[in-house]
Amino acid sequence: MYQVKGGTMPDRAVTMTWLLVICVCVMAGATFAGEDDEEAVVYGFGRPATAEEIAAWDIDVRPDGKGLPAGSGTPAEGAAIYVAQCAACHGAQGEGGLNDRLVVHSADEPFPLASDVNAGQHRTIGNYWPYATTVFDYIRRSMPFTAPGTLTANEVYSLTAHLLHLNHVIPEDAEMNAQTLPKVVMPAHGKFRLDDRQDFKEVH
Ligand code: HEC
Repeated sequence: MYQVKGGTMPDRAVTMTWLLVICVCVMAGATFAGEDDEEAVVYGFGRPATAEEIAAWDIDVRPDGKGLPAGSGTPAEGAAIYVAQCAACHGAQGEGGLNDRLVVHSADEPFPLASDVNAGQHRTIGNYWPYATTVFDYIRRSMPFTAPGTLTANEVYSLTAHLLHLNHVIPEDAEMNAQTLPKVVMPAHGKFRLDDRQDFKEVH
């Protein structure tokens, strides 16, 4: 036998009881969730997402260009949009300001190795990003920072073209679209390798 001091043990006992109740409920929920119809009956809310709703979220673009939408844009078109929507945070020429630098200092700015203690400050599109399609994907899903998702496909192609041009990756008159963008080879392409080291003790 042990003595319970103050309210500590009873409180803990109550907490444990609630945890048990929650566990049982979660397990029961998991059982019902296996059958779609029953889930609707049990909870009485929700509906299947429509094809349009899924399409609105399904915006990932892969390194090989899969997922790129129709549309196109040039560096010149992107420059105008950049001034209006991006320069305030990233600097007039992408040199950085309130927020990240987007452009290399020079075409031969080296790839920042992991051993570089200031690597964070040295990584930018022109010397660190291995795929051009990621620039499109990133801007489309997250910029401008205060209003992500508001840019049209043409605007994102144009901004991507502008940033690739400022980074000395594509010429000034290159048009970016679903066919041309995946063919752009980034300076950092091939600088990364799969970390498949197995010389450690696996813990399961
Ligand atoms: C209100 C400020 C703001 C505006 C405006 C803005 N950004 Fe950003 N941007 C940020 C912040 C903050 C980050 C870092 C976000 C993070 O790390 O999660 C960022 C990150 C980025 C990056 C990734 C940089 C890197 O190397 O990691 C890109 C590319 C970018 N922005 C492009 C744009 C473009 C293009 C526009 C205009 C359409 C834009 N941003 C407008 C604040 C802004």
